[in-house]
Amino acid sequence: MSTTITLKNGVKMPFIGLGTWQVKDKEEGINAVKCAIEAGYKAIDTAVVYQNEEAVGEGIKASGIDRSELFVTTKVYNDKQGYEETHQSFKESLERLQLDYVDLYLIHWPITDKYHDTWRAMEEIYTSGKAKAIGISNFHPQHIEDLMTTANIVPMVNQIELHPNQNQQALVAYCHERDIAVTAYSPLGHGNLLDHPVIKEIGETHHKSVAQVILRWDIQNGITAVPKSVNKDRIAANIDVFDFELSEEEMAQLNALHTGERVNKNPDIFIIEK
Ligand code: A2P
Repeated sequence: MSTTITLKNGVKMPFIGLGTWQVKDKEEGINAVKCAIEAGYKAIDTAVVYQNEEAVGEGIKASGIDRSELFVTTKVYNDKQGYEETHQSFKESLERLQLDYVDLYLIHWPITDKYHDTWRAMEEIYTSGKAKAIGISNFHPQHIEDLMTTANIVPMVNQIELHPNQNQQALVAYCHERDIAVTAYSPLGHGNLLDHPVIKEIGETHHKSVAQVILRWDIQNGITAVPKSVNKDRIAANIDVFDFELSEEEMAQLNALHTGERVNKNPDIFIIEK
């Protein structure tokens, strides 16, 4: 089983990356990134709005890993969208990360009156080589269709809330049909799913935890995931998912757990609220 998927432009993206949403404390962030890299993570996911790009940069530096081995993702936030603003925000992200390129740059949320201009800047950033891949986050099919009326480059990734309670089956199918890779954020339901009896039982069969079963389910569905943890053991456990396989029946059981529950905002509503 490969630990990476290949994006439509040939770039390889690790299935499991360290999520950093809500990691606000700087030392905690640095430590989490160091622990992740020690545990074998090659991918780290951050965003301007998480306010931890500096910690991620310092953690990477402190780990001593060769930059070329890593896959770093960051995102332009809503208040920084627009053509000039995106170029500026990207420059500032690189500075905070102490990097001269990122592996993946995403539009964080579909701000409908801005994302066309944002994407134009992102295409230029991609062409310049300072982002090895570009994509979107929280985009629904209607946002993608609308973006494509002006885009020259089809997004390579869509990062969305995805976990057994919100399996996003239709959106994943839509993306995969267009060769847009999907990344699951809040893959553990923000921690809410960790006592789920069905997932627990499946885990017991494989001597794996609920978190590991969920992450393995993502991988077998062709989905990359960015579980967040600041705990050394949990960070290590979350990438220890390549030595077992869920059966077709177990996959079907997990695919059937959808309740529609979300832990973050519905992008359709978020646009109105901004
Ligand atoms: P912690 O950082 O203390 O490990 P999600 O990625 O879905 O948003 O979930 C993140 C939440 O799940 C955090 O509260 C995190 O806490 C917790 N978590 C992450 N990995 C595990 C794990 N393997 N077992 C239990 N809890 C976990």
